Amino acid sequence: MEYAVEMYNVSTAYPKSNDVALSNINLTVLQGDFVLITGPNGAGKTTLLELIIGFLKPLRGALYVLGLKMPENRMRVRRMCGYVMQNFMKPPETPYTALEVVLMGLAPFKKPFDGLSEWEKDLVENVLQLLGIDNIIDKPFGTLSGGQQQRIMLARALIRRPKLLLLDEPFSSIDRESRREFAELLYDIRNSYKTTILVVSHDTEPLEDLVDGIIKLKDGHIVDEKWTS
Ligand SMILES: Nc1ncnc2c1ncn2[C@@H]1O[C@H](COP(=O)(O)OP(=O)(O)OP(=O)(O)O)[C@@H](O)[C@H]1O
Ligand SMILES: [Mg+2]
Repeated sequence: MEYAVEMYNVSTAYPKSNDVALSNINLTVLQGDFVLITGPNGAGKTTLLELIIGFLKPLRGALYVLGLKMPENRMRVRRMCGYVMQNFMKPPETPYTALEVVLMGLAPFKKPFDGLSEWEKDLVENVLQLLGIDNIIDKPFGTLSGGQQQRIMLARALIRRPKLLLLDEPFSSIDRESRREFAELLYDIRNSYKTTILVVSHDTEPLEDLVDGIIKLKDGHIVDEKWTS
């Protein structure tokens, strides 16, 4: 089996900070796994995702993402990943429609002003339908509700057909009743596309019985780890 993420004794800190944000992390995630990362505020959850995507460098230890050594291969790794950040909410005057925001997901793969190919159009249509957002796609992005914006950002990540999908608090703007549905959608995405998914969430309940592993962080350490398989 191949690994999506391998961390061996990894520690990291933010630039100009004296505090270690993650300390001595050992974690391996198999390709195709669906993993929940949880823990209190300041535990290091976002830091863990930023390390994986190469926004931060390991200070010590060894990190491989999709089999590639980091941070040396961060540009290659980023092309194969989808990352939905924790705080992406945009002001109402954001000058893009929802569809334009979704299509930005393909920008790294295209030359400026290149149109969409036929299969890309099909892909976009399928993803919009899957997420139930095909009816709001012409609206200005900033006027959508938080939950709708979250679905748009997920669509933007999915049209990149990522091997690894990193989601930071994807439930934060989604009402309690819809969280389970959203969690099941992620589960279906993993099953259909074999995408490895790492979800950071305070709210573990909607995901607990769907994921392959639950990693609990606190004060920059892994304090608990449960795997079903
Ligand atoms: N840009 C930054 N510069 C310096 N320190 C930072 C920065 N971002 C986070 N930290 C520190 O790193 C540690 C981990 O923060 P992180 O954002 O990973 O926590 P988190 O688990 O995602 O918390 P939350 O649940 O609030 O999102 C904290 O001590 C925080 O103060
Ligand atoms: Mg965070």
